Amino acid sequence: MPTTHYDIVILGGGSGGYACALRAAQLGQRVALVEKDKLGGTCLHRGCIPTKALLHSAEVADSARDSARFGVQTTLEGIDLAAVHTYKDGVVGRLYKGLQGLVKAAENITYVEGEGQLAGPTTVVVGEDELVGEHVVLATGSYARTLGIEIGDAVMTSDEALTLEQVPGRAIILGGGVIGVEFASVLRSFGSAVTIVEAMDRLVPAEDPGVSKALERAFRKRKITSRTGARMESVSQQDGVVTLSLEGGESLEADLLLVAVGRGPRTEGLGYEEAGVILERGFVQVDERLRTGVGNVRAVGDIVAGVQLAHRGFAHGIFVAEDIAGLEPEPVRDHLIPKVTYSDPEIASVGLSEEQAREQYGEGVASYEYNLGGNGKSQILGTAGFVKLIRSAEDGPVVGIHMVGARMGEQVGEAQLIVGWEALPEEVASFIHAHPTQNEALGEAHLALAGKPLHAHA
Ligand code: NAI
Repeated sequence: MPTTHYDIVILGGGSGGYACALRAAQLGQRVALVEKDKLGGTCLHRGCIPTKALLHSAEVADSARDSARFGVQTTLEGIDLAAVHTYKDGVVGRLYKGLQGLVKAAENITYVEGEGQLAGPTTVVVGEDELVGEHVVLATGSYARTLGIEIGDAVMTSDEALTLEQVPGRAIILGGGVIGVEFASVLRSFGSAVTIVEAMDRLVPAEDPGVSKALERAFRKRKITSRTGARMESVSQQDGVVTLSLEGGESLEADLLLVAVGRGPRTEGLGYEEAGVILERGFVQVDERLRTGVGNVRAVGDIVAGVQLAHRGFAHGIFVAEDIAGLEPEPVRDHLIPKVTYSDPEIASVGLSEEQAREQYGEGVASYEYNLGGNGKSQILGTAGFVKLIRSAEDGPVVGIHMVGARMGEQVGEAQLIVGWEALPEEVASFIHAHPTQNEALGEAHLALAGKPLHAHA
């Protein structure tokens, strides 16, 4: 078995793995990056990028359909899904090429194509090759959970839904989390009748309850049906029709069922446990420096319990590369990671929810909600929503920001700086926000919390 030695061997070329490889190479480490499928992983090929392209097509469809309200006459003739896929695949293809170019240009990275297995604390085996690393980084990502539901022509996860050939007349989305509401949004814009079935008592249960309420209201207006507190009992398929039976006896029929009930860590059958790595509910157990406790083996991205986001993967990868190089970086803190859900309307948040803030800071926690009704640009776009600020105490810093409304995802950058730098509302209020932008809503919310509201009632 040919053996090659490296400073770092990385198993998995998705967001976490390739970010680690690129940063480590910059820091002069010799890296092997092992990938069995395509460099870029879920985010680039089956997640963030292709789904956001679909959401953009959906937005264009809505603009065409609703243009009369802006005084522009158009008729939406239909959705050419083949052309949507060509556009989407073009975006993915260009980014893929760019990423391959980056990795190729990094002299210290050896890209190894093939399925790797952890064969010990320093060793990854790929076919006949043995890659030995001073450090090993596990970055094998996640897969769509199916709850044992059989995937077929009319029952899909987001993987299959990305290449849908026809817009279904009726679609049921099982799971009202991030993937569920994004796909519900796309399919509705493309013309499907959509029902979301969510086991918890609200859509996007990981967000602030007020955000869920606003999303549910907006979806109702878009004629998307939300069945919350609804538990699935069974699924059956016949002649292209899917029947979803709910606990309590009711059943729903559709032409497509999208299963979006969460993503599981890809940690089985890869030699992890055999090498001594401890798994908990499938996730790799790590300390705050992402060390597994087995030799110099670390883990990054979706296989580490916490928010499963590509930018967390990037941050983990960069952190590990820098830590290995002795730069002593600050560990990645999950609650400071911004989250965006790209449905229409969009959801963006960072920091603590009001409930979490109360748990941490007690009853002195204060909050303020600025309604987008008072924001000029939001009115021009015709969107409803709000910016909600949470501060730790009457005179404390802002510890959470929650936003909902068309395009509000773009506002998460400033929100993140405010929460990350523990800014006081008075400090943010002293900065002038450009008029008329949606960003102004963030400024106005801070003005109000600083006791000097402008376009809001005191
Ligand atoms: P999720 O955890 O966000 O949502 C799954 C939902 O399914 C939950 O609300 C859960 O209560 C519900 N559920 C579970 N079992 C159910 C059942 N039997 N019946 C009805 N409802 C059930 O997971 P999701 O949406 O699959 O996304 C997976 C991951 O991918 C998430 O962690 C998410 O953060 C990430 N992602 C991020 C995106 C973004 O940042 N824009 C886009 C898409 C995914």
